[in-house]
Amino acid sequence: MQDTKLLIGQTLGFAGDPFAEGPGAARHAARGGVLVQGGRIAALGDPATLQAAHPNAVVHDYGEALISAGFVDAHIHFPQTGIIASWGKRLIDWLNEYTFPEEARFGDPAHARAVAETCLDLMLAHGTTTACSFATIHPESVDAFFTAAQARGMRALAGKTCMDRNAPDDLRDTAQLAYDQSQALIARWQGVGRLGYVITPRFAPTSTPAQLSALGALWAEHPDLLMQTHLSEQAEEIAWVQRLFPQARDYLDVYEAHGLLGPGAVFGHAIHLTARERARLREVGAALVHCPTSNAFIGSGLFDLAGLKGAGQRVGLASDIGGGSSFSMLRTMAGAYEIAQLRGQAVHPAQLWWLATAGSASALGLGGQVGNLAVGMEADLVVIDLASTPAIAQRAARARDIWEALFPTIMMGDERAIVATWVAGRPVHRRAG
Ligand code: GUN
Ligand code: ZN
Repeated sequence: MQDTKLLIGQTLGFAGDPFAEGPGAARHAARGGVLVQGGRIAALGDPATLQAAHPNAVVHDYGEALISAGFVDAHIHFPQTGIIASWGKRLIDWLNEYTFPEEARFGDPAHARAVAETCLDLMLAHGTTTACSFATIHPESVDAFFTAAQARGMRALAGKTCMDRNAPDDLRDTAQLAYDQSQALIARWQGVGRLGYVITPRFAPTSTPAQLSALGALWAEHPDLLMQTHLSEQAEEIAWVQRLFPQARDYLDVYEAHGLLGPGAVFGHAIHLTARERARLREVGAALVHCPTSNAFIGSGLFDLAGLKGAGQRVGLASDIGGGSSFSMLRTMAGAYEIAQLRGQAVHPAQLWWLATAGSASALGLGGQVGNLAVGMEADLVVIDLASTPAIAQRAARARDIWEALFPTIMMGDERAIVATWVAGRPVHRRAG
C-alpha cells in the first residue's frame, strides 16, 4: 500500500480518563509502533509485527523518544502572539493597554497573515497540532488564520471575536454586523477540510445584550458549532459583569439568558465559579478550559482542577496566548501542576498529559478525531525527547517507570524536547541539529 509509514519509539495513549480511572487508563509501550496510512493511525502494536505485515512502510525509528498524539491547545488568541509577555497589568488594563491596540492592526490582511503564520509555526515547533483560537473583530483575521492552518494541513478551530461596547471605536462591530459577518464566515469556512468555525463573543463586558442575543440566535441556527468565550477569570471583571447585567444571577447566567449556554459551549478560565454556576455547567455538560500560565501571569487565580474534574466537569488545557506566557503545552502542563499544588492538589503526569491531548480534544468536541493514539484517529503526532537538556537527562536517568521518565520533561521541557511534529500523517516540523 502506498503512503504507509511506521513510526517506532515509546508510545503513549489513553484507554480512558485518568482523572476518573487513575494512571492505569494510560497505554504505554516501551517500544511500540504507530502505522500511518492515508493520514490516519491504521494500527498500533509491536514494531516488528507491523513491519512484517507492511514491508513497504517507510520506517521512522525514533529510538527511545516518546510518540504521543499532538498537543491540543483549547484556547488561544493568535492575534496576541506579538504581545506575549507584556509587563505589569491585570486583565482589564492589560486588554486596554496591550491587547486592543495590537488587535486593531488585524484589519490589515498582510499583518493578519504574517502573525497567523508565525503563531502556527511556533505551535508546530512546540508540538501543538490543533488549536481553538479567538481571532479579532475583523473577518480578515479569521480568513488569515484558517488559510494558514489549511496550508499546514492542520485541524483548527477559530471565530471572529465580537465586541460592540467597552472597546475602542476601531474594534467595535454591532449586533447585526456580528451576526452577519459570523454567518458569512460560517458559510465560507465551516467544515472546509479540517477547519471548524466557533461562534465567539469575546466576553460579557464587551457585548451589549442585543449582541449576545444575536449570537445566541446564530448558535441556535447552527447548533452543531462550538461557542467560545471567557467566564469568571478575574475578580474585577466579575464585579463589572454584575454592574453591567444587574438582573443576572451570576456571570454564567448572563450567557444562559442570551442563548449562549449548551454542551457545545467552551468557557475559558472559569476560576471563580459559584456553587450554582458549577452545578449548572455540570448539568449542561459545557466545557471549561484551564489556562494556568495566563492565570498566574495576569494574576487571575487558582483554577480548581481536582474539584471540577472530580465533579465530572469537562475540562481542557490551554496556553491562552498572549495572556499566557508560553507556546509550550509542556510548560502549560507544568503550570497546571504548580497551580494545583498551591491548592493542595497533586496532579499525576498521566492526568496532565491527558489534559493536553485527549482532554482538550474532547472539550472541543474533537475526541473522535484527534488527541489520542488510537486506531482510526487522525495522525497528528508529536515525538518527544525525554532527555532534551542535561538537567532533564540526569533526572530522567533515575526514572523507574514512564511517569518518572516523563515528569521532568513536563516540568522543565520546552521546544528543545520536540524531536518531530506530524500533521495528518506527514512530518511538518523536525528539531534542528
Ligand atoms: N477576557 C476577555 N478577553 C480576554 C483576552 O484576550 N485574554 C484573556 N486572558 N482574558 C480575556
Ligand atoms: Zn482568552
